Amino acid sequence: MADRRIEVVGGKKLEGELKIQGAKNSILPLLSGTVLCRGESVLHNCPNLTDADAACRILNCLGCKCRRENGSIIVNSKELPNTDVPPELMQEMRSSIVFLGAIIGRSRYCKLSFPGGCELGPRPINLHLLALRQMGIKIKDEGGYLDCSAPNGIHGARISLSIPSVGATENIVLAAVTAKGVTEINNAAREPEIVDLADFLNKCGAKIAGAGSGTIIIEGVEKLGGAEHAVIPDRIVAATYLCCAAITRGELMLRNIDCSHLSAVIPVLEQMGCSVYPYKDRIYINAKKTLHPPHKIRTSAHPGFPTDAQPMFMALASTLKGTTVFVETIFSNRYRHVPELARLGARISTDDRVAVVEGVNKLTGAAIKATDLRGGAALVTAALYADGLSKITGIEHIDRGYDDIVGNLSAIGATVKSIEN
Ligand code: EPU
Repeated sequence: MADRRIEVVGGKKLEGELKIQGAKNSILPLLSGTVLCRGESVLHNCPNLTDADAACRILNCLGCKCRRENGSIIVNSKELPNTDVPPELMQEMRSSIVFLGAIIGRSRYCKLSFPGGCELGPRPINLHLLALRQMGIKIKDEGGYLDCSAPNGIHGARISLSIPSVGATENIVLAAVTAKGVTEINNAAREPEIVDLADFLNKCGAKIAGAGSGTIIIEGVEKLGGAEHAVIPDRIVAATYLCCAAITRGELMLRNIDCSHLSAVIPVLEQMGCSVYPYKDRIYINAKKTLHPPHKIRTSAHPGFPTDAQPMFMALASTLKGTTVFVETIFSNRYRHVPELARLGARISTDDRVAVVEGVNKLTGAAIKATDLRGGAALVTAALYADGLSKITGIEHIDRGYDDIVGNLSAIGATVKSIEN
């Protein structure tokens, strides 16, 4: 495949209006959820992302018929002839593990390869497996494969998660909707993407209550049909463009968002000195006043400050006079953007989960490399501020979660282009 890079000449204030794409982290569990539906499901507001394409390839491999039509993905899961996902498809994205709960829920058997670690750290799935075993699913974990079966059916269980894992909560919900009896998840993840999954499954005939709170109750039903559903807006993409506006001291209106999903991010921007006006489905930011560092950002599970927004806020803090301390509590290896930001002139030191940023007046364009999705978005954010030309490689990471980031940034005044050679 040709090498691609994004080239940015920094220093332009971003101004204008953008429509925010649907959420990557919703679309993946929703597509997995369609496996449970014995009919046609239509998902609207689907962004064009390589991760969504990978999920569609898994659906087609299972024998569901999956196609894109403009901004929608249509899945016909009337038949599910296959229950195994080959390793090459599983390895395309780590979050493909969310297919486990859905396939076993529908077919009572499935074989997947173990997803393994990723650029953010080891990414264990022990909580997923422990919970599914509590529901009567037998899981053999051998030779890199998860061989799962529930010959006597899946039954409801009372499950207490030691960490409110997003993926484990999704897998339990997916396995529980057609299980026998009631499942109760305590210390469930409360992310908006969990609510979106529950809303979709309920439209399909599931009985899920409490999504968005720490306790989710699922009453198993016999089967699900298909439904039509619009994917929620991507709160992390919205946070990224808010950081891009702030770092260029510009002003921006974002449309198609849900401000209630940004409740941890907006106060930090305000504390920095940005004027932020949240409306229900739009947000306006003006960053033309002098901005100050936020001093401390500690990531935590929703409704805390999202780990996925940490790298872009670090890029922003790098340009604000004073010190900001970041504490990353979710992932063990989420500072891989730091050495790349340093190439642009950022002053950041790290010690395990803590990063200390000393703001500088000036960043200077350089050749930098994205090593993960949000870290890549942080490099683009920083490059918008840096003097001169930055050449960003590792674009395949950014393509996993951002639909046309180059087109969007150009439309609001950035000097940015995508180069293939
Ligand atoms: N964890 C365990 N055992 C498990 C599951 C998780 O120890 O069985 C640990 C993880 O290692 C991590 C923490 O629990 O330290 C949280 O992991 P979680 O399961 O909540 O994360 P995830 O489901 O793997 C999703 C998003 C991530 C996002 C996290 C946290 C998707 C596809 N991915 O991952 O998104 O950072 O929740 O909010 O929904 C991204 O979009 O860039 C991204 C990485």
